[in-house]
Amino acid sequence: MKKNIIRFTFTASLLMLFSCNDNKLTEVVEVPLPTKEEKITIGIPADVKADEGSFALTKLPFAYDALAPAIRSLTLETHYSKHYLGYTNNLNKEIVSTEFENAPIEDILKKMDMNNAKLRQNAGGYYNHTLYFDILTPKEQTPKDTLAGSINKEFGSFSNLTTQFKNEATKQFGSGWVWLVVDRAGKLQITTTENQDNPLMRNALIPGTPILGIDLWEHAYYLDYQNRKGSYIDAFYKLINWEKVNENYKTALTKVKKY
Ligand SMILES: [Fe+2]
Repeated sequence: MKKNIIRFTFTASLLMLFSCNDNKLTEVVEVPLPTKEEKITIGIPADVKADEGSFALTKLPFAYDALAPAIRSLTLETHYSKHYLGYTNNLNKEIVSTEFENAPIEDILKKMDMNNAKLRQNAGGYYNHTLYFDILTPKEQTPKDTLAGSINKEFGSFSNLTTQFKNEATKQFGSGWVWLVVDRAGKLQITTTENQDNPLMRNALIPGTPILGIDLWEHAYYLDYQNRKGSYIDAFYKLINWEKVNENYKTALTKVKKY
């Protein structure tokens, strides 16, 4: 098995805790930083499997170091193999022997009791991260095809969309997400949600189908950017797989009539 080895030269051994509250639940993932000259072994995404259950991880079609230096391997591996895996395993546990055991994730998000904090956090976390990892690519792209035409029509230009999306992401306070969605009328809109909520849930300000989302939890960028959230937003934007977002857009349009 091929392993990528990274050598760090920190002067002390640290233990970092990522912690975010949604009033009731706390997510804590321990990320040991290396001591001086200690080697960290980075694994490969295909080795990460969810426990047996209804939902599996989306496949990451590149190695953990493929997005570096924008998103470095330790960040990507931790995000995918710890945070995303955790949400997926917890979701699978939560829905065993419930009405949602064999339901599509979109149905769970639309129908679940929003007061069920564990299901809300983990169903949202699973859906949001699946989309996030699906729309990343190492190679910079711009929108094409159907989506490009709609962006120009509805935002005036790709540049306008970019400015608005980045502004919303910069303004987002605390843990949450910024989305490009297809709303109930089939129109593209930018919207935000807190914690692991998303626009499919009943509390959405702009209900719709997300086709692109940026994770603004500190675990998505803090190892690489610390407090420089704007640099992460700029870096993420250059990693968007617009070809995949275009596919998501065309699929979302087919669902508009079903709302
Ligand atoms: Fe995340």
